[in-house]
Formats: sequence, structure tokens, C-alpha cells
Amino acid sequence: MTMNIPQLTKRAAWQPLEAHYTKIRNMHLRKLFADDPKRGERMTTEAIGIYFDYSKHRITDETLSLLFQLAEESGLRARIDSMFRGEKINITEKRAVLHTALRAPKGKSIVVDGEDVVPKVHTVLDKMTGFCNRVRSGEWKGHTGKPIRNVINIGIGGSDLGPVMAYEALRHYSQRDLTLRFVSNIDGTDFAEAIRDLAAEETLFIISSKTFTTLETMTNAHTARDWVLKTLRHPAAVARHFVAISTNVGEVAKFGIDTTNMFEFWDWVGGRYSMDSAIGLSTMIAIGPENFRAMLDGFHQMDEHFRTAPFERNLPVLMGLLGIWYNNFFGMQTVAVLPYEQYLKRFPAYLQQLTMESNGKHVTLDGTEIGYQTAPIYWGEPGTNGQHSFYQMIHQGTKLIPCDFIGFIQPLNHLGRHHDLLMANMFAQAEALAFGKTPQEVQADGTPAWLVPHKTFEGNRPSSTILVKRLTPEALGKLVALYEHSVFTQGAIWQIDSFDQWGVELGKVLAGRIIPELETGTEHQLKHDNSTNTLIQRYRRYKK
Ligand code: F6P
Repeated sequence: MTMNIPQLTKRAAWQPLEAHYTKIRNMHLRKLFADDPKRGERMTTEAIGIYFDYSKHRITDETLSLLFQLAEESGLRARIDSMFRGEKINITEKRAVLHTALRAPKGKSIVVDGEDVVPKVHTVLDKMTGFCNRVRSGEWKGHTGKPIRNVINIGIGGSDLGPVMAYEALRHYSQRDLTLRFVSNIDGTDFAEAIRDLAAEETLFIISSKTFTTLETMTNAHTARDWVLKTLRHPAAVARHFVAISTNVGEVAKFGIDTTNMFEFWDWVGGRYSMDSAIGLSTMIAIGPENFRAMLDGFHQMDEHFRTAPFERNLPVLMGLLGIWYNNFFGMQTVAVLPYEQYLKRFPAYLQQLTMESNGKHVTLDGTEIGYQTAPIYWGEPGTNGQHSFYQMIHQGTKLIPCDFIGFIQPLNHLGRHHDLLMANMFAQAEALAFGKTPQEVQADGTPAWLVPHKTFEGNRPSSTILVKRLTPEALGKLVALYEHSVFTQGAIWQIDSFDQWGVELGKVLAGRIIPELETGTEHQLKHDNSTNTLIQRYRRYKK
């Protein structure tokens, strides 16, 4: 499928890109803008309601055309088609990668292993809709006959981060008399604090786990069941207070959840790509089926844009290639995601799994050790909060950090001047990063000579600005899909499997070995390294 593509540094565009990098690496954005007064209008793209300004990047037209050439030589077009067709591009797990089918409209057909998956997707969506309506209207009663007031999603990784991010992002649209909470950590504090002020008889647990075997989720699920049974004192309560979302019917039944209260998804949905599958049940309960479907429509619009737009105007492709430019040529280690929207406070955390679990890989598809950098570290905080914490380093530190500024033109909460002040800050930060303040300008302010270096901003710090009219469910779908497909673009260039996650396995196995050593104490002879043995012994000694 992709095996005949030369290794990254052997592709025809690579050498010219390296030579071009040497030529322009010190070129300042001040000069690039001075030479091209229309740069800020020209180096932008708008598609499906997303305005993407990439003019403040350290690129020229030549950079872009070489990057597009690299994308072509990397077989990106064919790889996009393979994904949308449902080919098993997750080769290490022999699975199709079809999160795009989760948002395919009724009537489309995508065949996996001889079966059209789109009707199945819509059957589950309809089942979710019926269930959500019953919970939201109060028709779904708990064991004592009271309506459900609280919904707790128990899940971790992709079974938590998408739902919690989407809930926070779309809280404005949520049914406010329902309390939504999310428990993920195996640290008992997470569960204890989530239920502290809640009544079990009014609480519904959604156990979200693709495998239904994940240690954290199953431990929290059992604790939740114990809590419900202890309070409601009847096994029949489980059926009224627990539903499951999984691909594993057998394990769901074993747990004691009535499988009619199970919402299915499939092995071709990766955990970190699952927020628009049944894993989004908590989102649907919060914002209602119509808004959920609007979000799916947003995803689908971005899917179609990614699938069909020429690379030059293709938002995820542009974003992905800019990432390659900094990661593989400038040697930048991180990307800061800076939403100027409080509702997107969990968006950076969500992106961390999406980007780093997908592309944090050290071998290519054929198992060869990679001789270049893959996934950068994603991190971030909403603005303006971040400005008063780590922005100092982005402006004046020794590390170059490309930033994604994300802003919305219309606020969801109109409060005096707040929104203009917020957006003024976002525009100002991108401007300050790009153009800085020269020693001459600092001097001209009357700054004493000794203070000038401290107050100088060298600028030339790159950023993208993503501007959207309003944070709606549809806009959120587009935004998430934008990042999903930019991760895909980068994975295709790096020739890696963006859809497996073997790197999480070893820690799980070792924890499994250590658990009995902590729980049952000294009869277990410790056979770890000296450091691990000593830590375990110390823990055992003091735990009592
Ligand atoms: O440990 C990593 C991981 O497998 C993620 O990829 C996944 O999203 C998460 O665990 C949760 O898995 P599950 O939904 O099967 O409980």
C-alpha cells in the first residue's frame, strides 16, 4: 500500500526543502511582511466557515510548494482515499480506520469486510437519540422511581477526553438541570469527589470502554456499582442506573449491564477518534440529539473538505504540513494550542491524546527505525490565562514554539466589553510574537541602555490563527476534524501507523505484576530492578 514510498529523507522534495530551509531560516517575518504588503490577506484560506491565517509562519511560497510536493510524494492523496474507503490502514492491528463513517449521512455506503457500516452507525444513533430523550425528559426513572438528575461518564483516554472536552466546549447548549460529571482516574479521589454531593437514586452511570477491560474504568465501574447497590439495596437497580458503551458485548453482560442498555461501536473506531460514536452519549444527553447531529454534520463537512479540496486550499493538509516544516526542519519540539475561548479549556488535553498517541511512534509502517522526528509535544491553556503564566517563554525564551490561536468572532456570553478585550488580546499576542520589538524601538521609549536587552522582543515567532464565527456544535465538529486530519496528514508524511498505541502496553503489564506485590505484601519476592524494589518495599513498610 505505502511500502513503495521512499523513506522521508530520500523523497525528491527533501533535499530541496533542506536547502530552502538553510536559505530562509533566519528570514524575519518583519521582512516577509514588508516585502509583501498583502501577505496577511494572501496567506489565508477560508473553507466551511473556518478562516485560517498562516501568514505569520516562517515560510515563503516556495516553502509551501515544496511541502505540497512532499505531500504528493508521500502518497497522501492515495492514503486519504484508502482511509475513506475503509481499507485496513491500521496495519499493526489489521483494522480499518473509519471514524469518518461515524458522521457519514444516511444513504452513504462504506463497506468493511463485505458489510455496509453506515446503516449500523445510524441504528446506534437512533437508539442513542431515544435513550437521551427519555433521560432528558425525566421519563427514564431510577430504581426508586425518581428521574435521573446526574449523569457520570466513567471512561479513560478516548473514552473520557473527547466526552469531557465536548461537554465543556458545548456547555452553553446543555440542559442545565442535568449534572454531568466525568470519572477517569483510578485514583479513588476522582470517584469520591464526583459522587460526594449526589444521590445514587438520581444518578446514571455510563460505562464507556471500547474494550471493557481497561483497569481504571472497570475499577471505577465496580466502585460505582457497589455504591449504587449499597444505597439502593437491590440488584435490579443496576439496570436502571448503568448503561454501557463498548465493542465488547460479552464483557458488558458479565459486568451485569443489560445488553439492551448497551450502545455499540466497532473495532474500526479508534479510542481517540471515538467522541462522535456512542462514546458521545454523555455529550448527546447534555446538548440533545439535534445539537449532537449538528456536531456530526460539522465533522462531516470537514471530512469532505479534507477528501476533496486541493492541497493548496486544504485546511488539515496546510496545518499538517506547517507542523512538518517546524518539526522536521526547524527542529521544534512542541506546539502550543491557545484557544481564546473558556469553553475550550479541555481542548488542549483532548488534543494531547489525539496527536501524541497517534503520531508518537519510532518505527515506520514496515517496522524500520525512524531516522527523523515524529510527533511534537502538544500543550496549551485558554487565553488570556496562559498570558499570565507561560507566554513569557514563548515571547522571550530560547525555544521556538509554534502556536495555534483559536478564536470566535461572536461570544456565547455577552458581558460588556469582555469579548472585544479577549479578542484584542489574541490578535495582539500573535502580532507581538511575529514582529516583536526591536532594541531601537525599546530605546526610543526612553528605556535605559542596560534594560534594553531585557525589554527587547526578537519576534519571528510563528503562529496560525484560526477564526470561526461562533462556537456551535457544528463548529466544534469542524475544529476537531481539522486536527484529526492534520494528524493524519503528518502520519502519512512520516509513514507511520497513526492508529495503534503499543506504547501504552508495557506499563499496563508491569502494573499488573506490581499490584499483588502491593496488595498482599511481603510473601511476594520482588524481582524488579533495585530502584523499583526499594520503592515497593518503602511503600509496603509505610502503607499501614
Ligand atoms: O491505554 C490507552 C488506551 O487504549 C487508549 O487508546 C484508549 O482511548 C483508552 O486506553 C481507553 O480504552 P478503552 O476505551 O478500551 O477503555
